[in-house]
Amino acid sequence: MSATAKQPVLELVGIGKNYGAVEAAADVSFSIHNGEVVALVGDNGAGKSTLVGIMSGVIEPSAGTMRIDGSAVTFQSPRDARDAGIETVYQDLALVDELDVAGNMFLGREATFGGGLGRFLGALDLGGMRKRTAEALKKAELRVPDIDRPVRAMSGGQRQATAIVRTVFWGKRLLILDEPTAALGVDESEHALRTIDNLRRQGIPMLVVSHNLQHVFRMSDRIVVLRHGRVQADLVTADTSPEDVVGHITGAKVTELERRAARLEASL
Ligand SMILES: Nc1ncnc2c1ncn2[C@@H]1O[C@H](COP(=O)(O)OP(=O)(O)O)[C@@H](O)[C@H]1O
Ligand SMILES: [Mg+2]
Repeated sequence: MSATAKQPVLELVGIGKNYGAVEAAADVSFSIHNGEVVALVGDNGAGKSTLVGIMSGVIEPSAGTMRIDGSAVTFQSPRDARDAGIETVYQDLALVDELDVAGNMFLGREATFGGGLGRFLGALDLGGMRKRTAEALKKAELRVPDIDRPVRAMSGGQRQATAIVRTVFWGKRLLILDEPTAALGVDESEHALRTIDNLRRQGIPMLVVSHNLQHVFRMSDRIVVLRHGRVQADLVTADTSPEDVVGHITGAKVTELERRAARLEASL
């Protein structure tokens, strides 16, 4: 395999974040490759939100390096992260109820195009925008009853799917999904999972934060387990089990490295 084929889309090397004496993240290293879905799991307070914040430009790390396609990046703002190709869908979705699907697709791009949203939408070819939106939805196999209706009228699953498709619409390098199914019912979760699966089959790299291990096992190629701000395990989903993952989350399962260290200590 050539060096470029193996080069990660996103690489975290020794990332740390301190809040006073609290180490929210410590020496975190992992990478996401092209076409890979990586799940980030861990107990409350393990450091998931901190890492998502760092990767999406909301939080400045205290230590470490981030690389995108092999080049070191530093983010001063969410816009920097977005410009570098990292799109984040937050739990609260951040859709505007009053706008329709197409309007939401273009939301937050005002600065990119110069001027306020109204001016931007006014200046835009609305027909073209609708057409592009419809194409993006079709590609993701997302069925929305009427893209001209305000998103307020849509179900939670449709809203989540719209938020996810919006990020792909902009042709980004990496999607970060923060608890994509946490706020949804069973049927709606299915809808969101199918959308994610479609993107996965299109080879779009994703980092998914989730508490739902069943969903994690359905969605991911790899699972990174955080514990007390550190990477406790970096697992291939197909080679592990929910029991193992729970063991790593709670710290009941020690890593091979720790086992060796304990053996070494015992033999001294
Ligand atoms: N702004 C902050 N100020 C102080 N401590 C924080 C702050 N944000 C997070 N922490 C602490 O950092 C640790 C990791 O938090 P967080 O990243 O939110 O974990 P998770 O998302 O996995 O629940 C926790 O101990 C939390 O209390
Ligand atoms: Mg959190």
